Amino acid sequence: MSQETPQERLLRMREQALAGGGPKRIEAQHAKGKLTARERIDFLVDEGSFVELDRFVTHRCTNFGMDQQQILGDGVVTGHALVEGRPIYLYSQDFTVFGGSLSETHAEKICKVMDAAVKNGLPVIGLGDSGGARIQEGVSSLGGYAEIFWRNTRASGVVPQISAIMGPCAGGAVYSPALTDFIFMVEGTSYMHITGPDVVKTVTHEVVTSEELGGASVHAERSGVCHFTHPDDKTSLNAVRRLLSYLPLNNAEDPPFVPTDDPADRQDASLDTLVPEDAQRPYDMRDVITRIVDRGSWFEVQEAFARNILCGFARLGGRVVGIVANQPAVLAGCLDIAASEKAARFIRFCDAFNIPIVTFEDVPGFLPGTAQEYAGIIRHGAKLLYAYCEATVPKVTVITRKAYGGAYDVMASKHVRADLNIAWPGAQIAVMGAAGAANIIHRREIAEAEDSEAMLAQKTKEYEDTFNNPYRAAARGFVDDVIEAHTTRPYLIRALEVLRSKHEPGPTRKHGNIPL
Ligand code: HXC
Repeated sequence: MSQETPQERLLRMREQALAGGGPKRIEAQHAKGKLTARERIDFLVDEGSFVELDRFVTHRCTNFGMDQQQILGDGVVTGHALVEGRPIYLYSQDFTVFGGSLSETHAEKICKVMDAAVKNGLPVIGLGDSGGARIQEGVSSLGGYAEIFWRNTRASGVVPQISAIMGPCAGGAVYSPALTDFIFMVEGTSYMHITGPDVVKTVTHEVVTSEELGGASVHAERSGVCHFTHPDDKTSLNAVRRLLSYLPLNNAEDPPFVPTDDPADRQDASLDTLVPEDAQRPYDMRDVITRIVDRGSWFEVQEAFARNILCGFARLGGRVVGIVANQPAVLAGCLDIAASEKAARFIRFCDAFNIPIVTFEDVPGFLPGTAQEYAGIIRHGAKLLYAYCEATVPKVTVITRKAYGGAYDVMASKHVRADLNIAWPGAQIAVMGAAGAANIIHRREIAEAEDSEAMLAQKTKEYEDTFNNPYRAAARGFVDDVIEAHTTRPYLIRALEVLRSKHEPGPTRKHGNIPL
């Protein structure tokens, strides 16, 4: 029998690494509607661009007969690749190899790409599909997780980190995605929870499925843990590609410029009548945003969570902006705990990665009530205030209608150092709504009047005439101008052009203390 040449050995070992956990397990993966780790990479990155690292790595565990079970790559495929011609680092857990569970060496492979990503200033994309800690390895596996968590934290604000959960993610393993900037989940096949249904049943006697406890819809709508959900792996990976198109490679770069055929001087007459004159009537702020930004560029983040505030990326004249907007169509657009946290986190991401923030404001105030107070709206609302105050990227604010009370201050007012504040002609900038204000400052007169209702109406009108317009604020320079709504797009594009060279150094300190 002829001896295997070095070349033949290499090819054989490569084949072996490509085979993962073998055809049966790959079949089982497909039967669940899931792609394999390598198929996901092929789908995510530009064709032929993936360069694999560490394909010959094997685990070092000898317990429980593990020395007899060595699979090249040890359950995670790692390397670098291009997405739309831009480099990224990535890892993709292979559920067909020991259930994608994390051994010490599996963790070392992930850490290697994370270290390289930070050193070279490139994003890290993690595709998760894992049964958690490699049970046979005990504390070595736990240590591996913590090494990853530490790197996630060190990389935070340095390079974008994106997690796509495409299978199980349970126990402490959830904390790596939680430390990254954006989490994608696939509906029906992915879940994230701290403890599984069995432990829940033992401890709290609740009977729940994994899907009910930590499925994609739970984290998209209720917990706010995840930012995007999609029906299958391919749609999810397409969305990861789209998200990357808005992000710089690292915190020293600007986001990519994407030329647009949408004219910079385009005006939209429908904006002049889009906001109902009756301040109590709702409208969809998305209709405002999509009429102003480059056609087709609006990419919403956390669409299903805290729907009373909108966050998302878009482009204006080809340049990326982060948009934060009150949504009058949900809870009248008021600020509550969930909305404050959602927007604060988004603002801090934009600030870390040189993405200017455009705020569209129509806010009646903070949501009142014991539920909010007991849950700490003071502390959580302060996060949003802190994030706006702290952000030094260009900040531009458009008041479309209401800017009331504390929410006026919070939502990128001049006082928290927004660079440009403009209002539409129907804007109402006041401490509170006119009827409420009249009721408080003219309570006795209204009570004593023969016709209380008429007196209330009169006093309300007086208050409206005085404060419910943008001109009091404009007279103080708190809004820089009042503009016709249809001119907003060209106005913003010109403003952002001027603000591109903004430089605002902060005080020397280790770090601030955001109210967590
Ligand atoms: C080693 C594991 C494994 C694990 C799964 N496998 N999880 N091997 N360590 N954690 C192996 C299985 O033995 C099996 O091997 C293969 O992966 C597929 O698993 P199945 O159970 O057949 O698949 P499925 O029915 O789809 O169930 C998937 C699963 C289940 C729900 C993930 O495997 C499971 O419950 N696993 C254990 C989860 C767990 O408790 N992990 C530890 C969590 S604590 P074969 O050879 O048969 O294909 C944790 C702490 C992290 O992670 C702390 C960080 C700080």
